[in-house]
Parts: sequence; structure tokens; C-alpha cells
Amino acid sequence: HKKLKPFPKDFLWGASTSAYQVEGANLSHGKGPSVQDVKKVPEGTSDLTVCADFYHRYKEDIALMAEMGFKVYRFSISWSRILPQGTGEVNQEGIDFYNNVINECLKYNIIPLVTMFHFDMPQALEERGGWEKRESIDWFVNFAKVMYENFGDRVKYWLTINEQNVLILSGDIIGTTTLTGPEKYKSLYQQNHHMLVAQAKAMALCHEMVEGGKIGPAPNISLAYPASCKPEDQLAAQNLNAIRNWLYLDMAVYGEYNHLAWAFMEKRNATPHIEEGDMEILKNGHPDFIGFNYYSTATVAWCDENQGETFGHDQQKTRMEEGVYLGAANPNLPHTDFGWEIDPFGFRATIREMYSRYRLPMIVTENGLGAYDKLTEDGKVHDQYRIEYLRKHIEQIQLAITDGAEMMGYCPWSAIDLISTHEGMVKRYGFIYVDRDEFDLKTLDRYRKDSFYWYKKVIASNGEDL
Ligand code: BG6
Repeated sequence: HKKLKPFPKDFLWGASTSAYQVEGANLSHGKGPSVQDVKKVPEGTSDLTVCADFYHRYKEDIALMAEMGFKVYRFSISWSRILPQGTGEVNQEGIDFYNNVINECLKYNIIPLVTMFHFDMPQALEERGGWEKRESIDWFVNFAKVMYENFGDRVKYWLTINEQNVLILSGDIIGTTTLTGPEKYKSLYQQNHHMLVAQAKAMALCHEMVEGGKIGPAPNISLAYPASCKPEDQLAAQNLNAIRNWLYLDMAVYGEYNHLAWAFMEKRNATPHIEEGDMEILKNGHPDFIGFNYYSTATVAWCDENQGETFGHDQQKTRMEEGVYLGAANPNLPHTDFGWEIDPFGFRATIREMYSRYRLPMIVTENGLGAYDKLTEDGKVHDQYRIEYLRKHIEQIQLAITDGAEMMGYCPWSAIDLISTHEGMVKRYGFIYVDRDEFDLKTLDRYRKDSFYWYKKVIASNGEDL
């Protein structure tokens, strides 16, 4: 390890959460519903009325983050808590809440890193057509403006849209569309275009309104591997990389549609309607850094136009696209309890590739292990498996830094246990255990997991002591 470059002195160690998964108080204190509050809750999982009760316990939680030594805390602001109807009237209680959260962070010198949109479109705007409507650009930019006005004096680091690529690529799973067949693509890529324009405008506005403000996108980026060294499989991997990764980052960074992704849309009759001036707006929204979520890589094989069924493992919900790729299992990778492939090497490979393409500093906005944690009778959680997972990924960040990539920080998922997007409360990611079950709210007391003490040591040694 002698030849490894150290983590930069000001490396931002921290962790992430999102509003609808952690806060609770989802239909009270003036908050309007978002699509998350009205969606069909997966069977056997609880609703979002309490979550981790962060809305009432943020002081205790931020104190615990400070105890771990966090330099940064990534959280999202709920659009419909600020603007219950999505536009129009502001909910002062919502502004007060986020002011309190921000001030509490600053009290401990924790930098707030704010995600503007994390899967939670205000229901009122969804009913007006959501991202498919051209007006969604104005709705989002207005929301951004309200945030910059109210929080921009203290929040200097912003993220635009969490996992826009997942919203599009897995739109039918995550609820961005209910359409099927060719219509589905047309709708999704039009929504995508609106999100991209909205993002570019929000980035430009941040630079205008927030003194010293820095902003970037937060897609889920991970490399696609060819399933074999068959040349066709390499084409399949390039295809998936284009529509999964580069479409989003080429646009955020260069303001250009990736040519392979464009060809993919053309083939499906799904190229978006682009208004005059859009391409200029897209060119003018420069990110200061790239935020990205990383959980695992994907492995793909070539897929003929007429091939029928999907096979193999599908943890990233990237399935088959005829003539594009076919999801395959990677026999070299172990899985989490929930079937997600674990690939620390792929993390390094992904960072290398991103830096070669974009030359921007990067911050990891999510990465982590969802597991069935168990609280022991003496109030401990022995999550050695999580420590192993995180250690292996942090090692790869250091190797990537040694390769020459510029890494700004690491915010694994999640700071504290919260409601998983797909599996409810049984699947935990946090450093801090929350005493509740799916339906039994128990005490909601907080407990430090073994990973809490371990991460504290990692931060204190700036990544030396893993
Ligand atoms: C990311 C999301 O996709 O993965 C988070 O940004 C989500 O909101 C996380 O919780 C883990 O997914 P899951 O389904 O295990 O909660």
C-alpha cells in the first residue's frame, strides 16, 4: 500500500438519505403529497407516515453524524413540503424545517449537500402531466429558485436529479410511466428531455443566484461488462453504457445527446421534441462536479432483434432490449442478501472511465449494502458484512485516486436506517440502527452499529485506517 496516493485533505466523508425515505410526517405540517405518498405500497411494507421519524429527531441524528465525524451530509429537500401544490404557495413550516436541518449541520461544521429531486414529484404536478409536460421545466426551475433564495446563503453544494437514468430506464418499474410498448419509450424520452433542460437551467441559475454555489447531476453510473469476449457482446456493452450512463453525463457535461443513445431513440421512434433554444440551454448548464450513485455493474450479452425472453440476473432492473443488449449474470461476483451483485473492482473501473470522459471532480452520492440487521439484547448491531463491503469500496476509491482520478467525497447509503425504495424497512443500509419494524414502530430509538464506530475511525484517519 506504500504506493497509494492519500485521500485529499479536504475529502468529504459523509453519508446520504432522501426525504421521503427518512422524514416521515409525509402528509402533515403543511406538506402536500408526492407520487411516493400515493403509490401502491409493495405488499408487506409500511407507508411513509413515520419512516425513521427524522422530521422530529433530526437533532439527535445530526448529532450522531457529527459524532462519526461527518464532513458532509447528503439529504434531499421534498418539493411538496416546500410547495405543497408544486407551484404557487410556499409552506413556511417546510422552509423552517429545512432551515433547522441546515443550521444543525452547520453547527457541527457538516456541509449540507442537497438533492433537489429524489423520486418525489408533487402529486399535484403529476396530475397535471408530470415530467411529460413542457411546463415541468418551469415548475422545476421555480422550485430551484425558491430553494436558492431560502437556503443558498448556507447551502453551497447542490445535486439536481437523483438517478434520472433509473427514472427513465426503469420507468415502468419505478412508476415514471404506466405505458407499455412503443408509447412507453416516446413518453420516457420526452420526460427525459424535459428533465435535462430543467437540470441545465437549474445549474445555470445556481451559478447566478448562489454565491460560490457548486452543482452537479446525480445519476446511477456503473459500467456494463460484455458477458464474453465475443465481439457482439462488446457492442452490447457499449449500447448499454450509452443508454444507461453516457446519455446522462454527455448531456450534463457537454450539452450533447450521445450518438448511440440517439440512435437507440430513433430506432424506437422515441426521439424527443426539442424546442428552439433547448440545445443552447443544454450547452450552457455546466456542472462543477459529477455526483453519482454506484451499487453494482451490469453484464450483458448481444441480443438479436427477434430474441424472446430475458434470462439471468437482473439486479439493476436493466433488462433486455432487442438488438441492444441482454442482461446476463456475472459468475465472478458475489451477491447481497437481496441479490444485488457486489463489485468493488467495477467501482474503480467506473470511476476511471468517467474521469477519462469528463475530467470533472466526482463525489459518490450513494453506495452501500442493504442487509437484514439484527439488534442484540444489549443494544448492538454486529454488521461486519457492511464494514467489509464499505472497506472494499473505499479501497477502490483510493486506487482510483492513485490512477489519477479527482475524487471529492464519499457519501454511502445511508446515514441512518430508512425505508428502502423497494423492500421497506427490512432492508437496512444505515450506520445508525432505528428501532422499528415494518409495522411495529417500537421505540424508534437510535443505536450505533459496529459500522458506526468503524466509519468514525475511517474518517478520523482520512481513510488510512480501514
Ligand atoms: C437508489 C436510490 O436507487 O438506491 C435510493 O437513490 C434507494 O433511494 C437506494 O433507496 C437503494 O435501493 P433500495 O431499493 O434497496 O432501497
